Amino acid sequence: MNILMVGAGSMSESLVRGWLASGLSPEQITMTNRSDRSRLAQLHAELGVQTVDEEDVNAYDIVVLAMQPDGVLPYVRSKTWTTPLLVSVAAHIEPSEIEEAAGLPAVCAMPNTPVAYQNGMTGLWFGPETDTSVRETATTLFERVGRTAVTDAKTMSAFMAAAGCSPAFFYEIVGSMTPVLTEAGFDETTARQIVAQAMKGSAELLLHETRPTNDLIADVAAPDGPTDRGVGVLRTRDLADVMSSALRESAKEDHEAIDATIERT
Ligand SMILES: NC(=O)c1ccc[n+]([C@@H]2O[C@H](COP(=O)([O-])OP(=O)(O)OC[C@H]3O[C@@H](n4cnc5c(N)ncnc54)[C@H](OP(=O)(O)O)[C@@H]3O)[C@@H](O)[C@H]2O)c1
Repeated sequence: MNILMVGAGSMSESLVRGWLASGLSPEQITMTNRSDRSRLAQLHAELGVQTVDEEDVNAYDIVVLAMQPDGVLPYVRSKTWTTPLLVSVAAHIEPSEIEEAAGLPAVCAMPNTPVAYQNGMTGLWFGPETDTSVRETATTLFERVGRTAVTDAKTMSAFMAAAGCSPAFFYEIVGSMTPVLTEAGFDETTARQIVAQAMKGSAELLLHETRPTNDLIADVAAPDGPTDRGVGVLRTRDLADVMSSALRESAKEDHEAIDATIERT
């Protein structure tokens, strides 16, 4: 299997790092971009991947479009396509638009940057022209770097808010907790590691559990004990409202962006 990454920005690099960690060899991955040749040289030196200035999109098993959204459809329209799998990771583009422009089945994938550490969460929106084989190939590709969920026009906004925006929410939460540890005497790096590792472990546990979150809280919160009192503060200050409002706001912005895109086209 060989992959062409069209676009060599942060998302492209995160995916490539994850795929290399998953066992793909640097010879299987080629990267290109529009103009920044020094960026390609840097990626070649750091990751060992192939780079090209002029790409033949049909020389690869999988082409991943990883440029900014406004560049996707013009790029697709500028080529003649026979490649077996065409994937776009651009936000706000629908797979049917790409299929129409390319004349090929297409998949819109919405990964997040933790794919670099094979801990990504990728939404997969399959175009109407995709068959089982295309869907399986795309799913296998993104499961190399984390988990996947099937999305569509109805669910994509909520998915993007939860998987794409939530890393920033998480950093905000960690940033608000670490001062308590530094005030107690830990250095900044250790404080961050303590909070992040505790949360990573809790996330791992959540992924293996099916019981309601209130039951899981009860496992660690003896009545009137320290955890119970802390959870009480979160509830009194209505963390649930804060978090769901943040998620709805991010999902809403995404919807507005989609509407604006549709109006423009
Ligand atoms: N960052 C995220 O967390 C994230 C998450 C999910 C999805 N995405 C999606 O991923 C895409 C890329 O995001 P990013 O954050 O990686 O952007 P970025 O850092 O700005 O990188 C964009 C890359 O695309 C290249 N490019 C632009 N137009 C091109 C063209 N016509 N042909 C070839 N290469 C072209 C740019 O090359 P030059 O520098 O040479 O112009 C650059 O390497 C976006 O569509 C975004 O919606 C991003």
